[in-house]
Amino acid sequence: MSQTFDIVVIGAGPGGYIAAIRAAQLGFKVACIDEWKNAAGGPAPGGTCTNVGCIPSKALLQSSEYFEHARLHFAEHGISTGAVRIDVPQMIARKDAVVRQNNDGILYLFKKNKVTFFHGRGSFARALEGGYEIAVSGAQPATLQARHVIVATGSRARALPGVPFDEERILSNDGALRLQAVPKRLAIIGAGVIGLEMGSVWRRLGAEVTILEGLPTFLAAADEQIAKEAKKAFDKQGLKIELGVKVGEVKATRKGVAIAYTQANGAEVTLEADRLIVSIGRVPNTEGLNAEAVGLKLDERGAIVVDEQCRTNLPGVWAVGDVVRGPMLAHKAEEEGVAVAERIAGQHPHVDFNTIPWVIYTSPEIAWVGQTEQQLKAAGRAYKAGTFPFMANGRARALGDTTGLVKILADAVTDEILGVHMVGPMVSELIAEAVVAMEFKASAEDIARICHAHPSLSEATKEAALAVDKRTLNF
Ligand code: FAD
Ligand code: NAI
Repeated sequence: MSQTFDIVVIGAGPGGYIAAIRAAQLGFKVACIDEWKNAAGGPAPGGTCTNVGCIPSKALLQSSEYFEHARLHFAEHGISTGAVRIDVPQMIARKDAVVRQNNDGILYLFKKNKVTFFHGRGSFARALEGGYEIAVSGAQPATLQARHVIVATGSRARALPGVPFDEERILSNDGALRLQAVPKRLAIIGAGVIGLEMGSVWRRLGAEVTILEGLPTFLAAADEQIAKEAKKAFDKQGLKIELGVKVGEVKATRKGVAIAYTQANGAEVTLEADRLIVSIGRVPNTEGLNAEAVGLKLDERGAIVVDEQCRTNLPGVWAVGDVVRGPMLAHKAEEEGVAVAERIAGQHPHVDFNTIPWVIYTSPEIAWVGQTEQQLKAAGRAYKAGTFPFMANGRARALGDTTGLVKILADAVTDEILGVHMVGPMVSELIAEAVVAMEFKASAEDIARICHAHPSLSEATKEAALAVDKRTLNF
């Protein structure tokens, strides 16, 4: 017997579970299906982000940062600890506990909002008149019917052609978050967000890390000045990043992995490592959906084709998050999920891609929103730039972390903020002020005239805004 809902959401990652909750708040009868299993085979809603992405990576970044602080920085504060050791299985167990808290939190939120959760795989069975039939397979098979379907099936790690992940020696983000010991030599292919974050974790814990990047430019999506500053800091930390390489044969060896590659200067070399993380981007999850059964249109990458409102080619079928175009970020997935639920309810929400912040949780952290200086130049837009270094910020000095800067780009005529770029301590938090400012179409002068608490890192943002008008007070 089939069960009828107003909306069925397939996938309980940040896109899906947030869409389900918002839809329930709006009065719809909602089901959410997710197939992720925890170690005991039970449900683990939260998707990539909660299980093998945002949350566990930040847990390990925190542990490894504490370790590095204790090892390198406590002494200057007059704190002695004796030999500092890392118990990797304990660090991983803590990370797993953090993940479980988040899984449980989502199950609680489903109950609180009366979202019916199904643990299993959801796929299209057939189109009905004015709706769809969705099959749930797994431990509790079910048949659901709904007028609207929101697909939020996310993405998975892309493997190198012919080099499948074994999660022992050749690791995706999943295996990289589960290592039970620090590898002596860790190779990473792809100096993108995962490569830098995971490379930072294992380097801080003592691994010799080499990151091989295909592009000749480091962090090509970031503002050049910020990327340069970050690269300088990573070089100093001993994170070895080779740019412009061409990866050839990758072979699992008796003890580890051998990666043959061509360096930017044409030299052919082989890198021997104990473990390899492949972080070269992600592919959308559409294989298990049985999209053909209803004629759901996919693009050549397997992503679901949607318009700017997340409508697919089928009436009543929507798609959000990593499974569609746009940045693969949890908060982008969430915003799209909320917007779709509200659109189904007849509201008119809008997700502005230009004000979606990017954060890389390395040390120093990197964060930005809006246009980079190179994008503005390419577009021929006249702009003014203001920068302020953390070196001149009192709170940063007290923290003992003065790397980096804040940079604000504003329109040369109107002074409207066009982009804000940061590298330095806690900029993952500082970027929120820039996002708010841009959403409200603030000028640099607006930020310059706002009272910021002293001493705080946020004063660097105010000073960068003052710098746009060449009137910094503390530099
Ligand atoms: P997902 O989170 O991938 O969730 C999709 C869910 O759908 C999964 O649970 C999957 O099992 C389920 N599913 C798929 N197919 C089916 C089916 N047919 N039936 C039932 N269930 C199905 N983003 C950030 O913004 N900040 C970060 O710090 C960050 N860190 C990251 C770190 C790593 C290591 C990785 C890999 C990613 C990180 N991301 C981060 C990206 C972020 O995880 C994704 O952008 C986000 O999870 C996308 O959400 P989603 O809901 O679209 O998909
Ligand atoms: P990415 O797109 O960030 O980086 C991939 C890198 O690999 C690029 O620099 C690319 O040039 C390089 N590359 C691709 N193919 C290559 C090859 N064959 N040889 C050498 N280099 C190659 O992808 P990544 O790091 O896998 O992360 C996937 C996505 O997950 C990110 O784009 C991001 O959206 C999300 N994410 C977000 C985080 C955050 O917000 N803090 C953290 C981690 C992931």
